[in-house]
Amino acid sequence: MHLFRVRLILALIASVILVSVGSTYFDVRSIEPEIENALATEDHATLPGLTDLLKRGTGALALAIYDQHGQMMASSGPQEVLGALAHSPVEKALQKGAQVDVFSHAQHWQWLEEASPIHNGNQLEGAMAIVVDAGYIRNEGVALWRRSFWRIVALVILIVAITFAMVRWFLLRPMSRLAERLRQLRTGHDEKSAGAVAELGLFSPLAREVETMAESLKAARAAAAAEARLREAGDRLWTAERLAIQIQNHAGSSRIFVVSNREPYMHVRRGREVVCVVPPSGLVTALEPVLRACDGVWVASGSGDADSTVVDEFDRLRVPPDEPRYTLRRVWLTEEEEERYYEGFSNEGLWPLCHIAHTRPIFRAGDWECYQKVNQKFAGALLEEMRDSEEPVVFVQDYHLALVPQLVKKARPDARVAIFWHIPWPNPEAFGICPWQAELLDGLLGADLVGFHIPLHCNNFLATADRVVESRTDREHMTVRRHGHTSLVRPYPVSVAFDGMARRAPSIGDNPDRERAAERDRLLSRFGVRAERLALGVDRLDYTKGIVERLEALGQFFEDHPWYRERLTMVQIAAPSRTRIPSYAELHLRVEEEAQRINSLYQTAHWKPIVLIEEQQNHDEVGRWYRAADVCLVTSLHDGMNLVAKEFVAARDDEDGVLVLSKFTGAAVELRDALLVNPYDIAGVSDAIYGALEMNPAERHEQMRRMRRQVMEFNIYLWAAKVLGDLREVRPEGADANRVPPSEDAATETPAKQTA
Ligand code: G6P
Repeated sequence: MHLFRVRLILALIASVILVSVGSTYFDVRSIEPEIENALATEDHATLPGLTDLLKRGTGALALAIYDQHGQMMASSGPQEVLGALAHSPVEKALQKGAQVDVFSHAQHWQWLEEASPIHNGNQLEGAMAIVVDAGYIRNEGVALWRRSFWRIVALVILIVAITFAMVRWFLLRPMSRLAERLRQLRTGHDEKSAGAVAELGLFSPLAREVETMAESLKAARAAAAAEARLREAGDRLWTAERLAIQIQNHAGSSRIFVVSNREPYMHVRRGREVVCVVPPSGLVTALEPVLRACDGVWVASGSGDADSTVVDEFDRLRVPPDEPRYTLRRVWLTEEEEERYYEGFSNEGLWPLCHIAHTRPIFRAGDWECYQKVNQKFAGALLEEMRDSEEPVVFVQDYHLALVPQLVKKARPDARVAIFWHIPWPNPEAFGICPWQAELLDGLLGADLVGFHIPLHCNNFLATADRVVESRTDREHMTVRRHGHTSLVRPYPVSVAFDGMARRAPSIGDNPDRERAAERDRLLSRFGVRAERLALGVDRLDYTKGIVERLEALGQFFEDHPWYRERLTMVQIAAPSRTRIPSYAELHLRVEEEAQRINSLYQTAHWKPIVLIEEQQNHDEVGRWYRAADVCLVTSLHDGMNLVAKEFVAARDDEDGVLVLSKFTGAAVELRDALLVNPYDIAGVSDAIYGALEMNPAERHEQMRRMRRQVMEFNIYLWAAKVLGDLREVRPEGADANRVPPSEDAATETPAKQTA
């Protein structure tokens, strides 16, 4: 670097000197002819200042008197000058009867000869030549050189300084940042800050590559660390790598196909650019290692506005974009399908049907028809992708695609099919209000394996199947046999990738409390708020999440505990969701109104009880809020699992923070150390907030440690490993498996008890 600087400075000096000296040389060279020319043409006016210059001469050098014929009559002055005097100016002066100036030089002399006629009245008597020293012209040249020297020096200093500053700013600074980033990567102290790449100017393409490399390196490090923990934990811990190895070892020639409504990568337009974003969903974390391990295929609806611009002629593309390892096949839905299948049947029908949150499900025959059509569309795309695969493994996701298992199994009885229902399954009475409950059950029972989060949902499903369709339901072995095909029904509590929520840099300082307070102040200052304690809620803006009830509880808390006013702020991150559905739009207004109501009651100049962030936050940003919070509030009215609860626990590597958790979430079954609440009991939630804030540190740490152990062990990789492991045990029943049941089977299947 030092040598580079020296060379750069030398090169700059040399070039500035060369240019400046050259231009001065030509300036100086041009002075004399210019003056001579001006004198010769007597054009003083065109060269203003030149005459002045000449007049600045040091005085007369010589004097000569001529007669009217131009003969020198008398003279005084140096001989070299007198001898070299030209006659022509005198002659011209005599002829014209006017003064004539001529510039001459000889040896080291330079002079101006001024010949003037001498009159006696009107009679021309002769002429006089005065010779004026013009050596100052040369002196002027010397002065010009001198001035130029200093000008050059100033120029050199200025140009070197500017260039140096520019090189420092545009090259050296980003380069040293890049070097620092590489050093962090090498040493594992990854402290990347948001916008770091943007600051690298010229080097940002290189920086992006470094970031991609960093991600891979981080993953490799995390894997190595997890491996180490794995050995220590006696092989109990599941990692992405362990999952991949298991899949490679057991999948044989079977390829894995995942199908879901939401895609794992979405291409959207941002200005003129097309960017790839990962939609907020824990599913990608879980299923990506599976698909990577066996180069699988993920079939999903293409919902990004630039999705169609990046697929090939078969609507496929390889993902992840930075490191393609598996295929994403996009299915295109029309505007009407979006409205009827996604918004209508799935989200205005099945979603409120399965969540007991007292929002009335809406079932429209047109939506149901469309739901069936779209399920066929997904199944069609899936079957196309599976065409060349023997004994494929198919993993269907969620309530949008309840009919896909049966459709696939009918066409490909050799396929092993699982479906995971990510939301609760209600009791048979509640489910019974769906006019097409039997068709939905048939669709699901096409699967070899039907998964739910918790045993309660499995039992509700078994009870519903028992009641609604003719089947043999075995509660002990948790199976349903219908039309000669057996479906296993199993609980698999979905989870997070424990390490995935950990902070980027291993920076638990010596004083985690101080560090947390500083982070909280930084985050809150963006909203002009100061508070000593922070409560946090992170949800999609969905009526099942109990956001309004949570805000009411907070209002109650401030009423009951005025001491906490100006001390505690609750930040509610509410990511907009399904915004075209009226119940969601209404909820949005209610949440805003309630926050506004409480804020207007208590807020002061620098403090607010509630900060509402109504936009999607990225993974890193949510991680910062989790780590800064004293309390995380998960008060869903009903929730299949709720991964926010587990993400919060996974993020707390300081083993601090309290989780207030609704007992109506799947997570409450596992996270028994949370403060469990009934979200409808406003006073109870208010008390729980108080209890969380006042809990002694030892108790807090102990509870968090236990919850972290739980989430670390029962992580997302274990979830995927268990589902796929159980599915592997299923023997495909051959081409005839799903035909109408033979009579002996029919005899063992009990008729539906009642069609509720
Ligand atoms: C729930 C569902 C998922 C769904 C997610 C986001 O968690 O179980 O299947 O993807 O909500 O909802 P959205 O309608 O945006 O896909």
